Amino acid sequence: MTSKQTEKSNSGVRPATGRLGILTPGLGAVATTFMAGVESIRRGHSKPIGSLTQMATIRLGKRTDNRSPLIKDFIPLASLDDIVFGAWDPIPDDALTAARKAGVLDERDLAPIAAFLEAIKPMPAVFDNHYVTRINGANVKTGKNKRELGEALRKDIRDFKAQHKLDRLVVVWCASTEIYLKPGPSHATLTAFEKAMDENDDQIAPSMLYAWAALMEGVPFCNGAPNLSVDIPALLELANEKGVPISGKDFKTGQTWLKTVIAPGIKARMLGLKGWYSTNILGNRDGEVLDDPASFKTKEESKLSVLHTILQPDKYPDLYKDFSHVVRINYYPPRGDNKEGWDNIDIVGWMNYPMQIKINFLCRDSILAAPIVLDLALFSDFAHRAGMKGIQEWLSFYYKSPMAAAGLQPEHDLFIQQTKLKNTLRHLMGEEQITHLGLEYYA
Ligand SMILES: NC(=O)c1ccc[n+]([C@@H]2O[C@H](COP(=O)([O-])OP(=O)(O)OC[C@H]3O[C@@H](n4cnc5c(N)ncnc54)[C@H](O)[C@@H]3O)[C@@H](O)[C@H]2O)c1
Repeated sequence: MTSKQTEKSNSGVRPATGRLGILTPGLGAVATTFMAGVESIRRGHSKPIGSLTQMATIRLGKRTDNRSPLIKDFIPLASLDDIVFGAWDPIPDDALTAARKAGVLDERDLAPIAAFLEAIKPMPAVFDNHYVTRINGANVKTGKNKRELGEALRKDIRDFKAQHKLDRLVVVWCASTEIYLKPGPSHATLTAFEKAMDENDDQIAPSMLYAWAALMEGVPFCNGAPNLSVDIPALLELANEKGVPISGKDFKTGQTWLKTVIAPGIKARMLGLKGWYSTNILGNRDGEVLDDPASFKTKEESKLSVLHTILQPDKYPDLYKDFSHVVRINYYPPRGDNKEGWDNIDIVGWMNYPMQIKINFLCRDSILAAPIVLDLALFSDFAHRAGMKGIQEWLSFYYKSPMAAAGLQPEHDLFIQQTKLKNTLRHLMGEEQITHLGLEYYA
């Protein structure tokens, strides 16, 4: 028996046999960069940089045991070779055309996998201009009401599974950010939600129909955008009833990722914060959608939420009471997907002396997001096989605005999130959790 098999033998997790379908509502910059990257990795053209499932190790047992396998050798994850991709999009472009338009990847990376990408054609989307005002597309489903549209998505999922002889599926929302909606009565219970679908209620956005369809088909759903989607009580109820994992919201990629690295550092040193000003210029289609104030409002809520839960002003009023936090995104076409973010952080030290931290992050949004899509899909599939259901808080690591159980604050600190993620894997595989207490030194 190889050491790889030994590591995996202790758990009750169902093995990752057969093929895994990954379906993305949205075939834009993030989805195509993700698909192109996985195919390049499968062909040995690149390494899975940025992916924990592929590159990270996990320490097991005591430090002296020297056991630190790769996560993918420790838990039974689907292999990249067993993944099949599919998507929905109101714009009919195949993945090659969409990737070229997105302008994230160079032609030298796209050319060798052109035929592969060309074969991925989006299924007609459930799309309504009311929820994403800046996009118009002809590849759209019609139906007499939202229930019928949801049923059509369910059929797509079943047909895709049969056509590609898949064992399991995961859906990851990679579509545009919808306008801001607040949870209301039609989201409160599954009965109210389904009644609202029948009545074509405005409160039921397309992203909710995709989530409903996935859950009805017993398929895990991950939400990469800040719109509510699966983050409503009705769909949590459905996820629990069907025994399916869900997670969201909004991939934690550029500026917010850095925020959740720097803020815990400031707090760990008990330094004060007077203000944090964040601005971005961004020129891709996502930037164009976010140029609409209603979509930006959804994003802003998601980006603003992180600092308060990390800094806990109620517990540390002398350090963090009333700090100002401003987030701006400006659509600036010349930059394309290569976003530039500036952060000005006004901190306070000993005897109230002010200091400033300036961060200028020239990042590539979709390059940071693609490995997150992969990890979320593989971990959600793993969680499903491990018998997990409902909100997967251990996947908060990947989200700007993590879903949490009712009445609980989500955890935003990247390092606490990382510890929680790894301890969940240890727990599910029957290994001891690691607290870093070093108890081996005590009698
Ligand atoms: N790139 C990042 O770093 C990052 C980080 C966090 C969140 N996100 C979110 O991920 C999403 C995708 O980002 P992107 O850069 O790929 O955007 P994009 O505009 O390139 O792609 C989004 C695609 O979704 C399609 N779409 C819109 N409504 C749809 C619907 N109802 N059904 C199916 N498809 C639909 C659009 O036609 C478009 O092709 C956005 O919501 C963005 O806010 C991205």
